Amino acid sequence: MPRFARRITQTSAKDFGMFARAFGRPGDLIHLELGRPVEDTPDHIKDATIAALRAGHVHYSDLQGIPELRHALAGKMAQDNGMDYTADEIIVTNGLTQASYAAFMALLDEGDEAILLAPYYPQHIGKIELAGAKAVIAPLDTDNDFAIRRDLIEAHITPRTRMIVLINPCNPTGRVYSRAELQILADLAIEHDLTVISDEVYERITYDNATHVSIAALPGMRARTITMFAFTKAYAMDGWRLGWLAADASMISALMKITTNEVTHVNTFIQHGALAAITGPTSALEELVAGDLARRDLAVRRLNQMPGITCAAPQGTIYAFADIRGTGMASQELAEKLMNDTGVVVEAGSFYGDAGEGHLRICFGSVDEARLSEAMDRMQGFFNAL
Ligand SMILES: Cc1ncc(COP(=O)(O)O)c(C=O)c1O
Repeated sequence: MPRFARRITQTSAKDFGMFARAFGRPGDLIHLELGRPVEDTPDHIKDATIAALRAGHVHYSDLQGIPELRHALAGKMAQDNGMDYTADEIIVTNGLTQASYAAFMALLDEGDEAILLAPYYPQHIGKIELAGAKAVIAPLDTDNDFAIRRDLIEAHITPRTRMIVLINPCNPTGRVYSRAELQILADLAIEHDLTVISDEVYERITYDNATHVSIAALPGMRARTITMFAFTKAYAMDGWRLGWLAADASMISALMKITTNEVTHVNTFIQHGALAAITGPTSALEELVAGDLARRDLAVRRLNQMPGITCAAPQGTIYAFADIRGTGMASQELAEKLMNDTGVVVEAGSFYGDAGEGHLRICFGSVDEARLSEAMDRMQGFFNAL
């Protein structure tokens, strides 16, 4: 066997959580652990992609992403996010995953530290470790609906800290951070000279009166933020592997050193589909979010009727983060028992770090309403009998 590089041996093995434990099990499983949309990609996006393929857009193209798409993305960010970036300050990526890999690899050295707010998204950790750096976990305010609290984060800043990783709207808690909370992070970043890596994959999936704010739009943050978006969730395009990042011009060539060495550029003809997603009708998007809202309301109403469970309505994302402390059980044990007894698969809160203990993450976006109802019936029976 060859001797593996240190970057492999120093990177923790990726845990796929309840998905891995459910994989290949017989029986009628209902998968509420997977964070992927149930809907099909809207037709106008597929049609534009097929047309591009037929028109011969099958060759290498611009390494940064096709210019017409980057111009459209710059316009979208100016209009929706109050972010002022040129097309040259955008890189089209293979999902948000590649954007985050590029950000961590371009900015982190061996021994550097990146702060993750917990409960965190575990997949960010592997990339930080591949870069040779350490993920430092700072808790959100578990007593106050997982809000951002300055002292909890500042206590983890050391001379090795290079960045804070933000997920807004937040997976797994469903929180959409207020401008005041983002200002706390911005102040810390400016005072300690840190970069913010902002994962905004759920930016379009917000409910009620929650307004998504991009931290890069706050004063002083443009030059020290890398913002990452994707077509994955709101456009129901998870398998397409399409996203983008926006960063100040001074960071683009460093980021492209990673992306071009990795994959050269993103598939040419699907970028034409992405262009249709950005410039096409918004009605399909609105329908997707309306479906998520209806399922959110169903899940939250039913969860709150179950003994031992309380669940605040998430302001965004496709996840309910249900408080299970009333059951007296640990989240991993409860998730496994629920799967074994009922076939409903949800994720244990502890998968997102210690700050997630006492919760289950239930994805209401990955099944249709009838299937979600069936899952809630099974869960109701399970918790009644617990
Ligand atoms: C917070 C967060 N970031 C990134 C991703 C991955 O995004 P993509 O599929 O666009 O790579 C996900 C997917 O679940 C996510 O929840």
